[in-house]
Amino acid sequence: MKDNERIEILSQRLVTWAKWFVKQQVACGDICVDATVGNGFDTLFLAECVGPEGKVYGFDIQQSALDKTKKLLSEAGLLDRVYLFHDSHSNLGTYLSHSTVKVVMFNLGYLPGGDHSLITKPETTIQALKAALPLLTTDGIITVVSYRGHRGAMEEYNAVNVFLSEINSKKYRVFCIDILNQDNLPPVLFVVHRYR
Ligand SMILES: C[S@@+](CC[C@H](N)C(=O)[O-])C[C@H]1O[C@@H](n2cnc3c(N)ncnc32)[C@H](O)[C@@H]1O
Repeated sequence: MKDNERIEILSQRLVTWAKWFVKQQVACGDICVDATVGNGFDTLFLAECVGPEGKVYGFDIQQSALDKTKKLLSEAGLLDRVYLFHDSHSNLGTYLSHSTVKVVMFNLGYLPGGDHSLITKPETTIQALKAALPLLTTDGIITVVSYRGHRGAMEEYNAVNVFLSEINSKKYRVFCIDILNQDNLPPVLFVVHRYR
């Protein structure tokens, strides 16, 4: 990597860092999951990453988010490789029980531009992480962008932090990127790598 590229990523938002980690791992033909579809930007990104032979599974509890995402993917000509489910990510194991998954992306919190009371919650987020871990293929990753500013966010961040701190270290390594000297409680990025 050239010096100017390194500076580029360091100045980006954590959602861009999450995508950077995904890019390092994903290959054409992989199966990936967007656990929080929202406006569909991460789903679109994953659909581009997996290529025509790959598949992306997306989950959201808001039909309006899924409709918007469907339109975005359709306009990009990538809808055929994406399966969208109007369901909680805590049920993702039901849809993917026989799959091995390369990447699961979580961008927690509320839908930007939507109803700010419809947020991800600690219990369902932890259930979803529990469901996602055994599906990961070796060298697969889970990215979690976790917020701390909105009501209920700190509880969710703490729950994710505690849960991920205790997962099997013989199979998974967990990285945490936290900006220590920024005001207003910035988000944190967790990256779980299944190395064995
Ligand atoms: C920060 S937004 C996601 C942004 C999105 N990844 C994008 O690229 O635009 C969080 C989303 O999580 C969704 N959500 C909340 N609880 C959920 C759950 N239990 N299962 C799946 N999605 C959920 C919300 O409806 C919201 O659309």
